[in-house]
Amino acid sequence: MDPIHICGGYSLDGETWVQGSKNAVLPILAAAVLTDGITTLTHCPRIADVHCMLRLLRSIGCMVEWTDGRIVIDARQITSVSLPEEYVTRMRSSVILMGAVLGRKRRVTISYPGGCVIGKRPIDMHLKAFSHMGVQLCENGNALTAWTKRLVGSEIALPFPSVGATENVILASVLAEGESVIRGAAREPEIEALCDFLVCAGADIVREEDGGTIRIRGVERLHSCTYRIPADRIVAGTYLLGCMAAGGRIRLRGTDAGALGAVLDTIRQMGGECECGAAEITLTAPERPRAVPYIRTAVYPGYPTDLQSQLLAALAVADGDSVVEETIFENRYRVVPELCKMGADIQIEEKKAVIRGVRELRGCAVTAQELRGGAALCMAALAAKGDTYIGNRHFIDRGYEALETDIRSLGGRI
Ligand code: UD1
Repeated sequence: MDPIHICGGYSLDGETWVQGSKNAVLPILAAAVLTDGITTLTHCPRIADVHCMLRLLRSIGCMVEWTDGRIVIDARQITSVSLPEEYVTRMRSSVILMGAVLGRKRRVTISYPGGCVIGKRPIDMHLKAFSHMGVQLCENGNALTAWTKRLVGSEIALPFPSVGATENVILASVLAEGESVIRGAAREPEIEALCDFLVCAGADIVREEDGGTIRIRGVERLHSCTYRIPADRIVAGTYLLGCMAAGGRIRLRGTDAGALGAVLDTIRQMGGECECGAAEITLTAPERPRAVPYIRTAVYPGYPTDLQSQLLAALAVADGDSVVEETIFENRYRVVPELCKMGADIQIEEKKAVIRGVRELRGCAVTAQELRGGAALCMAALAAKGDTYIGNRHFIDRGYEALETDIRSLGGRI
C-alpha cells in the first residue's frame, strides 16, 4: 500500500462533513445480533473495522447488506455461536460480540480480541460481570467459551468505568431474566448511542445519575428498527487539532459540539476560537497555538485518550512547554519517536509526555504504529514544512473513511 503523501506548511481553509462514529457503530452492529428482526443503520462509516465486524456477523448467520452509508442486518437466524479467530483478533471491539451472542444464544466461543497495540487491554471486568449473571467460563488455549442455562439480571459495580465492559454488560442484560443494574458505568456518548439504539429496538433501559448508573430490565425479544449513527467525535477532534497545528479556519458539519466538551475547552486554552452551531463547529486557529501547562486524559467527560496523540502533534508547534499525562492506556506514546523525526521535541517520563514547542516541523518519511497515532502524524504533516510520507496507512483506514478527501476539503495538500 502506498504511503500517504502530505505537502505541509500551509494553513487550512475549508469545510467537511464528519463521518459516522466508529466507536458507536461497532457496538450497535453487535447489538443487532440481539434483535429477532431487521436492523437498518444509516450514516455508517466505510472503514476497515466495520468490514471486519460485518464479516463476524455473517460468520454466525446474519444476512448483511451494505450500500453506501446504509447497513441492513437480518439477524433472525443465528446459526453459529463460534466467532472466527481470524477476524476476532483483528480488532478490540470484537469482544463486545461476547455479550451480544451470549444474550441471544446463552453460549459463545471467542478468542482473545486484538486491536491497536496501545496497552495490555485486559477483559477481566467483562468476564467477572458475566459470572455475576450466572455465566460459566472455560478457557482452552486462546479460546474462551462462555455459557449458561439461565442468564440472570444482576447488580454489577464496575471498579473502573470501562467502555467495553459497560457495553458488554448492557448487551448481555437486555434479554436476560429480571433487572440488571450497572454502577460505575462508562458515560461516553457511544454508550448513550448504544442504549438509544436498543431502546428503539424494544429494550427497557434507563440511564440515571448522569449515566453512571444504568438499569436494564430484561425483555422477551427485540424487534426491527432503524437508527442513524451519530457523528464521530474523535474524527472531528482530529481535524480540529490538525487545524490548531497548521493554523487557518475550518468548519466541521454534521457534528455535535456537546460530545467534544473537554476537547473544545483545550483548544480554546490553546488560543483557538470555536463557534458552535446546532450541528457544526467552526474553528479559527491562531498563527501558533499556546502551550497547555498540564492536561491528562480521562474517562468522559474528560479529555479522551483517543485524541491524545493528535494533541501532541498540535502542542509540538506550540509557543511554550506542555505536559500531557496518559492515564488510560500505558502504551500510547508510540507516535512520539515519529513526531521527533519531524523535528518535535518530546520527552517521555513514565506516563507523562513533556513537549517543548518548536517553531516548525519538517516533512520526512514516518510510519503509523497504530490508528490514532497515524492520524496524529497526518495532522503534524499538515503543519510541517515540505513533504511527509506516512507509511502503514492501513492502521489509519481502520477509523477514517475518507481522510484524503476530508483533508483536501479542509484546504490541505495531500
Ligand atoms: C477505550 C476508551 C474509549 C476508546 C477506546 C478505543 C476510555 C475510558 N475508554 O475503550 O473511549 O474509544 O478505548 O481506543 O477512555 N480495563 C481493565 N479490565 C477490563 C477492561 C478494561 O483493566 O476488563 C482497563 C484497560 O486496560 C484500560 C482502561 O481499563 O486501562 C480502559 O479500558 P476500556 O474503557 O475498557 O477500553 P475500551 O473499551 O477499549
